[in-house]
Amino acid sequence: MSKGKEIVAKLFDKYYGGEKARQAAFTALSNWCRPKQVLYPGGFIHINASFEFPSVTYVDNDKNAKKFFNYMDDVTTLVSKQKVYEDEPELRFYGQSYEIPIDEPDESYDLIISLYAGFISKPCKRYLKKGGVLAVNNSHGDAGLASIDSDLKFIGVIKGSGENLKVCESKLDDYFHPKKDIQITEELLRDSGRGVGYTKTAPLYLFRKK
Ligand SMILES: C[S@@+](CC[C@H](N)C(=O)[O-])C[C@H]1O[C@@H](n2cnc3c(N)ncnc32)[C@H](O)[C@@H]1O
Repeated sequence: MSKGKEIVAKLFDKYYGGEKARQAAFTALSNWCRPKQVLYPGGFIHINASFEFPSVTYVDNDKNAKKFFNYMDDVTTLVSKQKVYEDEPELRFYGQSYEIPIDEPDESYDLIISLYAGFISKPCKRYLKKGGVLAVNNSHGDAGLASIDSDLKFIGVIKGSGENLKVCESKLDDYFHPKKDIQITEELLRDSGRGVGYTKTAPLYLFRKK
């Protein structure tokens, strides 16, 4: 086995092998909106997104992510073995902060994924097409930030658990009600670092760019 293949296989297995894959959310999203161009800031080496979506751009400043994507041919080979679509996979990687502009046109992505990686929505929404979707969890408060962003409209959630996830677009008024009687502001969310607690939650929230 070549050095690149070995590094790629080892890192992927360590972080996203087997139970750690979290594939079901990507499958549910793909079945729902079939995005052509996907941006995954803070995606680390979560290339499970590329098993589902033919074209994904990853942005991450972690040193292991840079090491991993340095062997892009080996990463692409691994994706080719597990992808569920016919096309050749297209992967791009920027080894930098997502807060710094990347060399991609504004409004060129159909889907942006924000999972466990900080406040992505604000610096990255520029890359989302009008009508494109932000899929975001609230681990670091980014869903809360999206919920008060006037450029974004809350349109759905991913519901369920384990392998059984699906998009739900009804009863959305039940979400984003803080448990405490507080006014949600960007400053408050940034100070909290973990987001605020809401009375009803979902694993993933979906917003459409206006
Ligand atoms: C907890 S990991 C989550 C990785 C992946 N999204 C997942 O769900 O498995 C957070 C990742 O976000 C990246 N990250 C955090 N802040 C970043 C920034 N400003 N620019 C680029 N990457 C960032 C880290 O390097 C790390 O790889």
